[in-house]
Amino acid sequence: MRKKVIAGNWKMHNLVSESLALVRALKPLVADVKEVEIVVCPVYTSLYAVASELGGSNIKLGAQDCFWEEKGAFTGEVSAWMLKDVGAEFVIIGHSERRQYFCETDEWVNKKVKSAIRAGLTPIVCVGEKLEEREANRTFEVVRAQLDNGLGDLSPEEAGRIIIAYEPVWAIGTGRTATPQQAQEVHAFIRGWFREKFGDSLADALRIQYGGSVKPDNARDLLSQEDIDGALVGGASLKADAFAEIVKSAL
Ligand code: PGA
Repeated sequence: MRKKVIAGNWKMHNLVSESLALVRALKPLVADVKEVEIVVCPVYTSLYAVASELGGSNIKLGAQDCFWEEKGAFTGEVSAWMLKDVGAEFVIIGHSERRQYFCETDEWVNKKVKSAIRAGLTPIVCVGEKLEEREANRTFEVVRAQLDNGLGDLSPEEAGRIIIAYEPVWAIGTGRTATPQQAQEVHAFIRGWFREKFGDSLADALRIQYGGSVKPDNARDLLSQEDIDGALVGGASLKADAFAEIVKSAL
């Protein structure tokens, strides 16, 4: 059985005080949840404070991006090792907003994933098609290229360390979620790709999250699909009660 993983992607929201208030509100709401892995991903500036606040709880810390070098003259960047140093265990890589606004490529995703693993983090690698690609029936082709170029050359050891998030770009922040069937179909495709590359046992263990307008009222249907092993939640993760409800619908 794959343990479901629900991660909150806070994006560029919350000052330190707001981040702390959010996790303080969240902790008691999910304190008795043992069967689901719970992750919050604040902005860089809140990571250290949130890590202290989470200490001893069942909520884990993630970041929203990293650079692939360990250190050096890369003004403005933060390495996976630095994230690990402040208490992060996860890092989102290749989010569609980074691909769209910051020109992030699959080649960058590949380097970042490898560096995150070397630093001891669990990468949450995002893939997903744009609306025009879905409408042109190119979903599988686009996702396959993202997987081939982003993850195709991982070693089996590396492949065993990652989480994949399927996030159709047209469903992110739009309130327009994929139907459970639409999502399941792509999740099964992703697991099939992984099986071909890395074999049965790694494919059976791989966790694939769905992301894109996950809310308390649609989470259960999505999470009950065979190949959906969790959710990457944006907007609804900014409200403690909504995020807690989503966590509980994974039980
Ligand atoms: P959303 O964002 O839940 O607000 O659609 C999901 C994401 O971008 O990870």
